[in-house]
Amino acid sequence: MLVLMFQLLGKLQDKWNGKKKPYPAMYSSVYGGIILDPEMMVIPVDDHMVHRGHGVFDTAMLLNGHLYELDTHLNRFLRSASKARISSPFPQSTLRSILIQLTAASQCKKGSLRYWLSAGPGDFLLSPAGCPVSAFYAVVIEDDYSQCKEGVKVITSTIPMKIPLFATMKNVNYLPNVLAVMEAEEKGAFASIWIDDEGYIAEGPNVNVAFISKEKELLLPLFDKILAGCTAKRLLQLAPKLVEQGLLKSVSTSNLTVEQAKDSVEMMYVGSGLPILPIIMWDDQPIGEGKVGELTIALSDLLWDDMVAGPDTQRISVPYV
Ligand SMILES: Cc1ncc(COP(=O)(O)O)c(C=O)c1O
Ligand SMILES: *[C@@H]1O[C@H](CO)[C@@H](O)[C@H](O)[C@H]1NC(C)=O
Repeated sequence: MLVLMFQLLGKLQDKWNGKKKPYPAMYSSVYGGIILDPEMMVIPVDDHMVHRGHGVFDTAMLLNGHLYELDTHLNRFLRSASKARISSPFPQSTLRSILIQLTAASQCKKGSLRYWLSAGPGDFLLSPAGCPVSAFYAVVIEDDYSQCKEGVKVITSTIPMKIPLFATMKNVNYLPNVLAVMEAEEKGAFASIWIDDEGYIAEGPNVNVAFISKEKELLLPLFDKILAGCTAKRLLQLAPKLVEQGLLKSVSTSNLTVEQAKDSVEMMYVGSGLPILPIIMWDDQPIGEGKVGELTIALSDLLWDDMVAGPDTQRISVPYV
């Protein structure tokens, strides 16, 4: 028999008492401040992001007490919000300041930051007309991660990919992405690759994808029908160093066919949390010699060095107290 819950807050506090907190800190514009109590890290049930998917999100990695590429992610976040017709309750400088203060309050030095802009709470209708103010939420997630040196297997997804309007904005509707990962896991793969309706390579479920051709060209798909990955864009800025060193022949984005891609000698996922993950097998066919490639590791080192010790333009030192 279901019971009416009284003094719920006390019960939840007891539940978390003495246990390690799942997340060190959350911000909610609904409360107007930083939340350290795990039992209060919640989103209102009538928020349109919850029941209608009217919300957008983004992330930033936290490493050695520095936030990596926060401004690049914030720019994309506000572009996503504009496409989803959500106006931010605060200007970008305030969002940035909240995120830095939240990270400082969390005391967390390594992990990630995840944040959302939502149409906000109000009612259960489709139209957001009854939601007086949009909402901003953010959470710090503690996580120990390191460079990925092992190669993984991938499959071509049979789950339809999103049309460009939805794929190019980072909105919270990730059902196709979830189904794509579940399909891959069922088939013994790490994740999958989407191919668009014209037969060009698109992206993975929460990552971009890159290839090294036999001629040592670094090839990435164009960003016009997929999410413009902050990591992929940074890779395009950094990889010319390997061209200068004579390791790579060229760096480019193009309409990449499946034939071109399957003929490559190295393949990798590219995304914030990785930053590079070597792919050694695709649809049960080895990529190159089926081993982690040297250029993949060289590109991974370039991005990892940028995360650990890159210029101040890429890294914000968190003012912990
Ligand atoms: C669908 C999709 N593609 C690509 C990416 C990679 O983008 P980023 O490098 O900004 O993490 C992500 C993750 O944010 C994603 O969700
Ligand atoms: C990529 O392919 C699309 C569709 O076939 C075409 O419209 C576009 O011009 C191509 N882009 C480039 C840079 O070749």
